Amino acid sequence: MIVSCCLLVDMNYFHNYLYIFFLSLKFSLVICLEPDPRYELASTLVGTKFYFFGGVKQIAQNLSTNEAWYLDLSSSFSTTKPPWSKSANMPVAYYFGSSCISPIDYTNVYLVGGRTSPESVLPVYVFNSNISQWTSSNIRPTGNSSLAARSSETQAVINDKGKIFIFGGINSRGTLYNDMNIFDTTSMTLSKPSQSQSVSYYADYAAVLLQNGTIIYIGGRQSVTSLTNMNQLLTYDTNSNSWSTQKVGGDFIGSRLGHSAVLTSDNRIIIYGGSSSSTRLIAANPSLAILDISTLMWYIPNIPKTYAPPPLMYHCAALYNDYMFIAFGKNFITIVQ
Ligand SMILES: *[C@@H]1O[C@H](CO)[C@@H](O)[C@H](O)[C@H]1NC(C)=O
Ligand SMILES: *[C@@H]1O[C@H](CO)[C@@H](O)[C@H](O)[C@H]1NC(C)=O
Ligand SMILES: *[C@@H]1O[C@H](CO)[C@@H](O)[C@H](O)[C@H]1NC(C)=O
Ligand SMILES: *[C@@H]1O[C@H](CO)[C@@H](O)[C@H](O)[C@H]1NC(C)=O
Repeated sequence: MIVSCCLLVDMNYFHNYLYIFFLSLKFSLVICLEPDPRYELASTLVGTKFYFFGGVKQIAQNLSTNEAWYLDLSSSFSTTKPPWSKSANMPVAYYFGSSCISPIDYTNVYLVGGRTSPESVLPVYVFNSNISQWTSSNIRPTGNSSLAARSSETQAVINDKGKIFIFGGINSRGTLYNDMNIFDTTSMTLSKPSQSQSVSYYADYAAVLLQNGTIIYIGGRQSVTSLTNMNQLLTYDTNSNSWSTQKVGGDFIGSRLGHSAVLTSDNRIIIYGGSSSSTRLIAANPSLAILDISTLMWYIPNIPKTYAPPPLMYHCAALYNDYMFIAFGKNFITIVQ
């Protein structure tokens, strides 16, 4: 089963917070459009709207979609019946990619990497959220860029100057990459910083850009089958284009891929979900964990079981007003055979 319902985790108290939504049905015929379940989609928060792009709808047929949807988080709703709105379809079906909102115009969303159907050589699609219009870039990545091979299963991050950092990934034939690509949204150009240090291959990780310009890569895999130790963080300083690794202590957090991560305003990273195996679907343990960036310690919050969302992978997460929203994804319970 793939999950389309929207879960809400209250970060401060860690209980599910369900709003009650009353709909007055006096005279109108209400047609409720809602998206089919899906996973491996890209998502971005644009103001109060949580956008979802593409994804895979059917596990057996790998049926990818070009649909875009959003949820307006500005008013209360029931998490069992979120008020879905459909947006303009993408030019191609899209999955395993990632998206970033421009911090300069707060309007354009850039979808980078990922896989498309039909296959495309374009590494970037742009969505103008003001007018709900898509444009494709004319950028052709150079031969030595993983984006030329349509690397996917990455998480791109954007800095305040509009530069998107896309690291590593994997292509549809299973080749892993370890190169950094920088897409400058102000000039629509793609470049590669010269990498002084060689780092491991990385895919299916979660990435978070800290305010000081350091990107933290959490979890994921370093080969087709070997998962990253969660007590080791790979970090990339976007100011000096240099890599380092940091040791993390605290509670034991199981390795995982296909998880999500959000950064809180008080400098904690909350991770959710993922699988502990690259070949089988086994929910990573614990589902939810918190990394305190100032002390570099993991801890597992004590959440009452009754309120815990199901384990998920390849889902979407966003932080809005101290709430972590989790939507879509693969649900392990019925997938494991
Ligand atoms: C779907 O994807 C999986 C994993 O990439 C692959 O093994 C399988 O053959 C694909 N199925 C179809 C029908 O393309
Ligand atoms: C989007 O719309 C807002 C409000 O109408 C406007 O201020 C902004 O300049 C627009 N952005 C772009 C990129 O067109
Ligand atoms: C990639 O190729 C470009 C030219 O196509 C070259 O300038 C650059 O140094 C190469 N980068 C690496 C990391 O090999
Ligand atoms: C940014 O902050 C992180 C976490 O405190 C730290 O590990 C990293 O070294 C800092 N980066 C720079 C460039 O100061």
